[in-house]
Amino acid sequence: MCGIVGYIGEQQASNIIVKGLQRLEYRGYDSAGVALLNGELDIKKGKGKVQILKNKLEANPSKGKIGIGHTRWATHGEPNDINSHPHVSESGKIALVHNGIIENYNSLKKELINKGRTFHTDTDTEVVAQLIEEIYENGNGDDLTFEQAVQMALKQVVGTYGLAILHTEEPDRIVVARKGSPLLLGIGDGEMFIASDASPIVEHTKKVVYLDDGEIAVVSKDGYEVKTIEDVPLTKKVHELAMSVEEIEKGGYPHFMLKEIFEQPRAIADCLRGRLDVENHSIQLGGLVDVLDKLVNAKRLVIAACGTSWHSGLLGEYLFEHLAKLPVEVEYASEFRYREALIDEDDVMLVVSQSGETADTLAALRTAKERGALTLGICNVVGSTIARDTDAGVYTHAGPEIGVASTKAFTTQVSVLAMMAILLGQKRGVLEKEYAARLIEELDRIPGKVEQILENSESIEEMAKLFTYAPNFLYLGRTYNFPVALEGALKLKEISYIHAEGYPAAEMKHGPIALIDEMMPVVVIAATDHTNDKMISNIEEVKARKGRIIAITGEDNEEVMDLAEFNCPIPETEDCLSPLLTSIPLQLLSYYIAVNRGCNVDQPRNLAKSVTVE
Ligand code: F6R
Repeated sequence: MCGIVGYIGEQQASNIIVKGLQRLEYRGYDSAGVALLNGELDIKKGKGKVQILKNKLEANPSKGKIGIGHTRWATHGEPNDINSHPHVSESGKIALVHNGIIENYNSLKKELINKGRTFHTDTDTEVVAQLIEEIYENGNGDDLTFEQAVQMALKQVVGTYGLAILHTEEPDRIVVARKGSPLLLGIGDGEMFIASDASPIVEHTKKVVYLDDGEIAVVSKDGYEVKTIEDVPLTKKVHELAMSVEEIEKGGYPHFMLKEIFEQPRAIADCLRGRLDVENHSIQLGGLVDVLDKLVNAKRLVIAACGTSWHSGLLGEYLFEHLAKLPVEVEYASEFRYREALIDEDDVMLVVSQSGETADTLAALRTAKERGALTLGICNVVGSTIARDTDAGVYTHAGPEIGVASTKAFTTQVSVLAMMAILLGQKRGVLEKEYAARLIEELDRIPGKVEQILENSESIEEMAKLFTYAPNFLYLGRTYNFPVALEGALKLKEISYIHAEGYPAAEMKHGPIALIDEMMPVVVIAATDHTNDKMISNIEEVKARKGRIIAITGEDNEEVMDLAEFNCPIPETEDCLSPLLTSIPLQLLSYYIAVNRGCNVDQPRNLAKSVTVE
């Protein structure tokens, strides 16, 4: 949510920053801007995508070897030219970019106005630029350094921030600070990079330093100094990035989302690799080794997540209860953090997050930690805050997910959850040996089966044409495919802007059935054997009211296929693993409908990936 890039070195900063912003655009795309320092500040910014900024810079280049840039997801103040970042102080000497929310900006603004400062934007961010300047100029006598002024200002700020700050009197440094919004430094040869995540940095250097909350860094072309806001010097670990540039490019696909859907056989295989021992019917999850005993003996597991990751979490509940006989509660992280949730040292909290930066998920994790629970994470982004803050965890290894709508993150999260549930079932002695063996062998076959479904994508593309202008969709599933129904509906809503609801199939008759008529497509996910008869009854109920049935069902399930108007057959599999297959046609269906409707699939309106604000 909002992307920040900074550069200091011997090259022209503008090209590097703009390219970096394009890589971060999935974090927000309401407006974009840069500030270059070349004696004076040269700021170009405005409403719209980074491409518009790029065109402006091509027509009227900005020169300078030090600069900062921003791509915005608006929180305070509508997305327009004035509210775009960078924001400047009254004298025009300080420019900064910000990711996060300054919660006490109103009271700070009033104080600064009383001191004679004039504000020009509706943003919370402008307050920080003005506050730093106020302190630097009038705060503590002449001997206050710029860095100290930033530290003092940040002590007054309530809220979250990733900040990169320039001052015309400090032409050889960028001051950066972090609290609640991610920020990392890339270490080059005589140059340094700053970014909200590694994607703008990876083509320049693989050496990075992750800033932690409450830290501030002074970055020059030859290095960096990190301190706490309280001025305690720190020595930070330098990490090596594993990501490659190819992984963050479209590789010939028209959209990242389609690329990521088609990457799933590889992503799931990477997720399973080295963890699944098919010969010995065992599972090793290296990240959990140290906490396995505690997990095996846990009385209860609490799973917290948001959005698609919450749908994975819900599947986790079904998997852990079925395979490991472990009681599970699944929580929306945003609800968990603000209610009187009962959690203590006897519980295990598992958070699921693709980005590893989602503000609500992070807050839920920290609450659980404070109450003494063991905390585990399932994350995709290596080195992300959640990955670093949990006691232990498992990476999904899906590779960078750039399309705003989650696809491969979901299937790899479910793969990890399935592995964890089988492993726990075995260790707790509650999972039948033959069944465990069957599941492990079947998990190993899943990438091939996903491949098979993807080979059939053209038929889904054809079918999507017929439903492009449907105003509503209903998705129905039972047991393991109820979370898939929720996920299918979410996917359609977010990228095609069609209203869609996911429901447990049996709940339909308690309300949503009133919506069904000949205009209502109903996607039925009928791939779990033990509920097949019940699903058939639900299909009949829809048909009796002239609803149009699209069935996602096993390729041998002739009964369902005969009833449905359209079929997306999937290879047969174990019930509890079926979401790994049934979710694929739903991703394709929403993708093709959104493309037909001319929607921006990778960057849907109002959304951003990595929701680092509450
Ligand atoms: C939907 C989607 C979001 C995310 C949610 C949580 O396609 O991507 O609903 O799943 O914002 O994000 P993470 O998993 O990064 O915590």
